[in-house]
Amino acid sequence: MRSRFMTGTAPMSTTAFTAEFRQAAVADENNGAGTGSDVRRDVRLEITGGQPLAGELRVSGAKNSALVLMAASLLSRDTLRLRNVPPLTDITAMGEILAALGVRVTRNGETLDLDGESITQVAPPYELVNTLRASFFCIGPLLARMGTAQVPLPGGCQIGSRPVVEHVKGLKALGATVTIEHGVVTASLSGRARRLTGGHIHLDCPSVGATETLMMAAALADGETVIDNAALEPEVVDLAGLLTAMGARISGAGTPTIVIAGVERLHGADYAVIPDRIEAGTLLLAAAITRSSLRVGPIIPEHLGAVLTKLEDAGCRLRHDGGAIEISTDQVRALDLRTMPFPGFPTDLQAPFMSLLATASGTSLVVETIFENRLQHVAELQRMGAAIRLQGNTACIEGVPRLSGAPVQGTDLRASAAMVLAGLAAEGITQVRGLEFLDRGYAGLEHKLTAVGARIRRLSDPA
Ligand code: UD1
Repeated sequence: MRSRFMTGTAPMSTTAFTAEFRQAAVADENNGAGTGSDVRRDVRLEITGGQPLAGELRVSGAKNSALVLMAASLLSRDTLRLRNVPPLTDITAMGEILAALGVRVTRNGETLDLDGESITQVAPPYELVNTLRASFFCIGPLLARMGTAQVPLPGGCQIGSRPVVEHVKGLKALGATVTIEHGVVTASLSGRARRLTGGHIHLDCPSVGATETLMMAAALADGETVIDNAALEPEVVDLAGLLTAMGARISGAGTPTIVIAGVERLHGADYAVIPDRIEAGTLLLAAAITRSSLRVGPIIPEHLGAVLTKLEDAGCRLRHDGGAIEISTDQVRALDLRTMPFPGFPTDLQAPFMSLLATASGTSLVVETIFENRLQHVAELQRMGAAIRLQGNTACIEGVPRLSGAPVQGTDLRASAAMVLAGLAAEGITQVRGLEFLDRGYAGLEHKLTAVGARIRRLSDPA
């Protein structure tokens, strides 16, 4: 189905949003990344390694929170104002998907206004959904508010198969009829029901996306919903905070049991997205891998507990100072880590942390337990001289005194960040390609790092 947006009759505000947001996400004229021009141009970061870093870095709003909070705008007829929204190509894509459904999206700096008064579509178009897995977040709110939703299956991605079985199982437990045909998930209210009905959901695994989808659906259901074995991630707590600000009745977010007493309607809200814990971790690692000192904030330390502990285990000195962390590093020791659901070590920082361990003294073991294909950066790090052996989902890393600059490919969002970090520490020049991934999740990473002493240029030549 073609959306108003796709047929070019979108409201002015939507068009303005798209153009302006793209401009912010795509920071300089050479860049071109994330706009689709990557396929025609050879876009890459050229990093001259070995520069010490010093100064202060600002952490942007959390991408993964912002994406789901934007989808929550579908739950209310009133305007939702979100602050601290990072300028990223993923955010642009989500704005386009919501616009296609009828939400009026306007942006002013890092503030987004999402006016969901008239939802005109319940089926986001495949062409848009295909660019963003998080678009599946629309299914819960559309079903709860409109009584039906048709959302293409998001499919797998570079890091693994990414099933949505738990989302579907949970929607059925709330009384929805769900069918999957021709790659599209259709969810509708059963029989003559006007609303979803509260239910008891036990998730087989604590999926972040399933927990968030079901919280949004249950917020407008008739009666009480209990989600057991819910994800504990800070982004889940952030969503509960927003929904509560919109008038939802939710308790237990951040624990394994979330209870939602459904309400008939939700109202607008003015809400600030939490700082991005994964970006914060990446910036702290930039200091560690260059053996430098940086002040990074805002950081909510409880969101990064496992990461901060590992940084200290590796020999970094951390000082908490008014919502920021000052990190300084002389030497880095090897250590073992295993990715786990929150509050364990986040899979999204596994690749960036491995770049650091590639330069540590001693032998480290890294085990990826969340996604089945999330060690593709190993081959790229090896090209830079890292000594890593891979067996199944375990990497054994023999630290080397120096990495050496090389042309490398970022194979997914966090792998691209890992390549940038490795390039900062490497001898000579590293060229990082695959920036269409990097730009999905890091707001102006090269500008931030350049401001504290890194030598990074974005190059863009005809392919
Ligand atoms: C979210 C984050 C992503 C992060 C991940 C894990 C967003 C937009 N993305 O992804 O950055 O890496 O959490 O912290 O917030 N699973 C099933 N069945 C399901 C659903 C999931 O088996 O129905 C499995 C997945 O295959 C995976 C694990 O559960 O092994 C975690 O997935 P999930 O928590 O759902 O990740 P996302 O919400 O997709």
